[in-house]
Amino acid sequence: MHIRQPIVAVLGHVDSGKTSLLDRIRGTGVQGREAGGITQHIGASFLPTETIKEMCGPLYKKLEQSENKVPGLLVIDTPGHEVFTNLRSRGGSAADIAILVVDVNRGFQPQTNESLKILQSRKVPFVVALNKCDQISGWRKSETKFISQAIKEQDASIQADLDQKVYDVVGTLSILGYKSEAFYRVEDFKSEIAIVPISARSGVGIPELLSVLVGLTQQYLQKRLNQDEKEPRGIILEVKDEVGLGQTANVILIDGIIKKENSIVVAKRDGVIVTKPKALLLPKPLDEMRDPRDKFKPVPQVEAAAGFKIASPDLEGVLPGSTLYVASNDEEIAKYTELIESE
Ligand code: GTP
Ligand code: NA
Ligand code: MG
Repeated sequence: MHIRQPIVAVLGHVDSGKTSLLDRIRGTGVQGREAGGITQHIGASFLPTETIKEMCGPLYKKLEQSENKVPGLLVIDTPGHEVFTNLRSRGGSAADIAILVVDVNRGFQPQTNESLKILQSRKVPFVVALNKCDQISGWRKSETKFISQAIKEQDASIQADLDQKVYDVVGTLSILGYKSEAFYRVEDFKSEIAIVPISARSGVGIPELLSVLVGLTQQYLQKRLNQDEKEPRGIILEVKDEVGLGQTANVILIDGIIKKENSIVVAKRDGVIVTKPKALLLPKPLDEMRDPRDKFKPVPQVEAAAGFKIASPDLEGVLPGSTLYVASNDEEIAKYTELIESE
């Protein structure tokens, strides 16, 4: 069984701290000497197992015993502003699991609810990251990165305050039909949503958040992540003109492998596009980037899960959000064309 990395979408209201959380994880990954480098994809970041292991410390011991170890996490950031509903929804569609980021002092806000609806309609499991714990009035700074330890170091009144904020979220989620609990009180991760208090600013709680995510994917998503006999398939996040490249599409490859010589089959406004990519592109590592305009590196193939770019003049008119099919012969081209036309 070949298990791919789960695709994790980070969703939530504007300014809840989605990008800060990713920056903090990336920063820690870069600082940690032993940590295998975090690689930048198009529209996503890949956290390899070694990095997660390093961050989770002793929490990782149990995860390592799983028969279905995931080779890391591919994390997609999404914008929280109300005008970006489409991007949020595409991020949600590509996701195997999600982090719903909630500002601890603000609770559920309009785009938190909207994000939740996206996850609900696509049946994407999720965890809640209750962010900005450092901003709880009276919160005492501590050295530990583990939120369970940090909570113990707070005054009783602050602990009660956090508990209350957790229960506000539990209450809101319960009205929306979900059972949820602070992660350290969850008894059944299949039926209860875990709420993990964190601070993207200090990094506290990130070990627990990552452990819960890895644990959930290893326990409940093996079938989905197993790559044996999966047809290659992706989702178009964005279509854009790129200086020097012309028409391109940013794609998350969900399953399988795409090779440069393959044909892609994808819906456009008035029909189906069948074409061979001019190039498959990944972001250039920073140290290889001499000219900032020269951001992408052509590659012969891309393996799921990954965020990459396809350059092709034929992408004009492709609808963001569409499924991208990958065909290696005429028979497959015909099959996918028919599939799109019947949709
Ligand atoms: P959009 O992408 O615009 O939806 O916002 P976002 O969810 O990515 O939030 P972003 O990471 O941009 O953070 C918004 C603001 O909150 C910034 O000023 C951050 O510095 C601040 N912030 C994020 N996380 C924390 C935190 O844990 N503690 C504190 N004190 N501030 C935070
Ligand atoms: Na922001
Ligand atoms: Mg952001």
